[in-house]
Amino acid sequence: MGAATAFGAAFATAFAAGAFFAGARFAPDADALVAGTFFDGAFFVAGSAAFFAGAAFAGAAFAGAAFAGAFFVAGFAAVFVEGADFARGVFRSAITIACLCVPRNLWHARAHPANGAQHRTPGARRKPRTPQNDASPMFLPTPRPLPLEGASLTVLGVESSCDETAASVVCVDAAGAWVRSDVVATQVAEHAPYGGVVPEIAARAHLRAVGPVIERAVRDGGGWGAIDAVAATAGPGLIGALLVGLQAAKAVAWARGLPFVGVNHLAGHLLAPFTRVEGEAFTAPAFPFVGLLASGGHTAIYRCDDASTMRELGATRDDAAGEAFDKVAKMLGLGYPGGPVVDRLAARGDADAVTFPQALRGRSVEFSFSGLKTAVATHLGKHGPPATEQALCDLCAGVQRAIVETLVRKLLLAARLEGVPRVVLGGGVAANRGLRAHAAAECARAGVTLVVPPLRACTDNAAMIAYAGAVALRAGRLDGLDLDARASWPVG
Ligand code: KG4
Ligand code: ZN
Repeated sequence: MGAATAFGAAFATAFAAGAFFAGARFAPDADALVAGTFFDGAFFVAGSAAFFAGAAFAGAAFAGAAFAGAFFVAGFAAVFVEGADFARGVFRSAITIACLCVPRNLWHARAHPANGAQHRTPGARRKPRTPQNDASPMFLPTPRPLPLEGASLTVLGVESSCDETAASVVCVDAAGAWVRSDVVATQVAEHAPYGGVVPEIAARAHLRAVGPVIERAVRDGGGWGAIDAVAATAGPGLIGALLVGLQAAKAVAWARGLPFVGVNHLAGHLLAPFTRVEGEAFTAPAFPFVGLLASGGHTAIYRCDDASTMRELGATRDDAAGEAFDKVAKMLGLGYPGGPVVDRLAARGDADAVTFPQALRGRSVEFSFSGLKTAVATHLGKHGPPATEQALCDLCAGVQRAIVETLVRKLLLAARLEGVPRVVLGGGVAANRGLRAHAAAECARAGVTLVVPPLRACTDNAAMIAYAGAVALRAGRLDGLDLDARASWPVG
């Protein structure tokens, strides 16, 4: 393990521990969470035994063992310095770190001998855990069962994959997925000076926000008594950022004895159009549909056959569409995030004044936006920065046209290739007025039905995670406290 990896792991461990503290404070009664010092001691011994057994079997876990060991030592020291309560917190976080660090395959192969063979095959899918077939070995205590099929299911969702800390309570019944609360704390101001998301700053900001955000979402969503399960984004995203929301959500689930499931962020985006707020105009897309997800971190097209069957048809080879907006805006000194500013300026510009190339124009559903950034840099190098306000608006209009036309052309191409006349927009770039107008015009021309969800459902939010969690739980999935965050995790 190199120094940089060890450094990163140390940070991740610290964030994970901090997030666990943030989540564990939602126990109905902090003392009921762990009944007395003896119980703590048992947890401590069991957690450390499991951890060091894992470390002994797999060298990769050894460095992790050192970090966890440091926590255990700190725990003992805390008994003398701070008293038993503080020490209990340290032990709890150490156990969670152990849960995080014990090599998953090893654990599952041992805990589920029947599944062991599958785990040794790289890429093999694990048999989904259900309350029936699995007592969730790393879930203490055993979570309470879900409401019966047919009854409403209320899920607390937590999202922290990028630069938004979000929590939401969604009640799923026969009439739809009702958003009871939807709290989003954005970090835009913290990243603005750097012209993009700084992972380390993101993780720290999530840590500060995650407790209060969950607290408000639960309060506004009807209180703890209303919640049947917890879901959190487990990937893809920035690993340090993901860890915070995931770890806090796991701790909340543990403290409250609720079932827990990790959710794919991209699947959440694709299901976002199904979340509804009372009184808000609502049009759910019919299955199957083709969805475009264009945000700061992702740009891809998916086919969705039902709420749990999704397939990627094509994605960007390099930059995401939102990233292209942001990078061009940075070059033009327009601040961060660039998309909304370029959108505003482009509305007053002439898109014919400057033409930028559109990559991969052929019959491919893949995107490439890195060339656009270079083309803008070349243009600025040749002509200098825009001399007038109008020249700036014209430049923005040209850039926006290149991005928007590419997105819509590929989306309609995918719909045609799949023989599916229904498309949906999602991701922060779906806020772009040029994209909305161009997509509406082109879809009308092609006889394709277009659904553009409200903005709250396009940008990162936790309602989509809560709903995706409800879908996963109803399909029989359940995760334990050992669930890892995944920086990359393709849909489907
Ligand atoms: O989905 P999102 O809120 O966060 C993630 O990246 O996951 O998307 C943020 C991205 C940023 O790159 C931002 O510049 C872009 O969406 N964006 C826009 C607009 N509003 C936000 N891009 C173009 N036009 C907009 N109006
Ligand atoms: Zn997103």
